[in-house]
Amino acid sequence: MRRAVVTGGGTGIGLAVARRLVADGDEVTIVGRRRDVLERASAGSMGIEVADLQEPAEVEGLADRLADRLGAVDVLVLNAGGSLTREGDGLAATARIWTDEFRLNVLTTVLLGEALLPVMSRPGGRIVAMSSVAALRGAGSYGAAKAAINSWVTGTAGAVAADGITVNAVAPGFVPDTEFWEGRLDDDERRRRVSRIPAGRPGTVDEVAAAVAYLASPDAGWTTGQVLAVHGGAVLARL
Ligand SMILES: NC(=O)c1ccc[n+]([C@@H]2O[C@H](COP(=O)([O-])OP(=O)(O)OC[C@H]3O[C@@H](n4cnc5c(N)ncnc54)[C@H](OP(=O)(O)O)[C@@H]3O)[C@@H](O)[C@H]2O)c1
Repeated sequence: MRRAVVTGGGTGIGLAVARRLVADGDEVTIVGRRRDVLERASAGSMGIEVADLQEPAEVEGLADRLADRLGAVDVLVLNAGGSLTREGDGLAATARIWTDEFRLNVLTTVLLGEALLPVMSRPGGRIVAMSSVAALRGAGSYGAAKAAINSWVTGTAGAVAADGITVNAVAPGFVPDTEFWEGRLDDDERRRRVSRIPAGRPGTVDEVAAAVAYLASPDAGWTTGQVLAVHGGAVLARL
């Protein structure tokens, strides 16, 4: 039974990934900041760990607990992240949102990724980070943070390839049924976003989970340092 850790596994895409890995026979631990959300999501079928992944000391404690409990990690899905709403005008507000979005996406990915690298299974370990189509679209601070994740994935993949560990990213497009979009989507905005997708519909959390499951599988052993786009052709639409 593979030991899998899914960050942000209490909601949205991360929960779909966690459920998919459980269905595939893995022992799954989900990580997030809200214990009640994790307990509800797990429904007794997953381990849970509470930590704020932006905080180095909390990540160190989490990595120690995971290493003690699991011994090694076979599959690490670095999915926690999100986008924030800018508050205020001027450079101070610009500095705040760029900093906060970097912390929310890049630190939550890089800190735990680095902390668990020593205990990833060698060979056979699989790391999958959650990027976004926004990285390719010039989407301000959020897109820039996701582009930084792509860069970390590429560099780390090269560093651990000889150990038999793969490191990849999945870059979803518009997947509305998550907390990410809560309070941000009216009918017009939803239509506007779907109109930019050649496939003519939004994606589902299960479609993103299927891409993660592939990259986490033994079949994907010769795929590393890649960003797999799952967005109904949204980027082609710009060409
Ligand atoms: N939905 C989309 O259209 C879409 C598209 C492209 C990429 N993505 C990416 O997909 C990933 C999952 O997003 P989602 O759409 O499923 O939204 P979501 O439901 O808001 O999921 C985000 C998860 O990350 C956790 N999280 C956030 N900050 C954290 C922190 N500091 N420490 C630990 N956990 C943290 C949250 O749990 P707590 O709040 O309890 O910590 C939550 O479970 C994100 O990286 C997002 O950027 C989403």
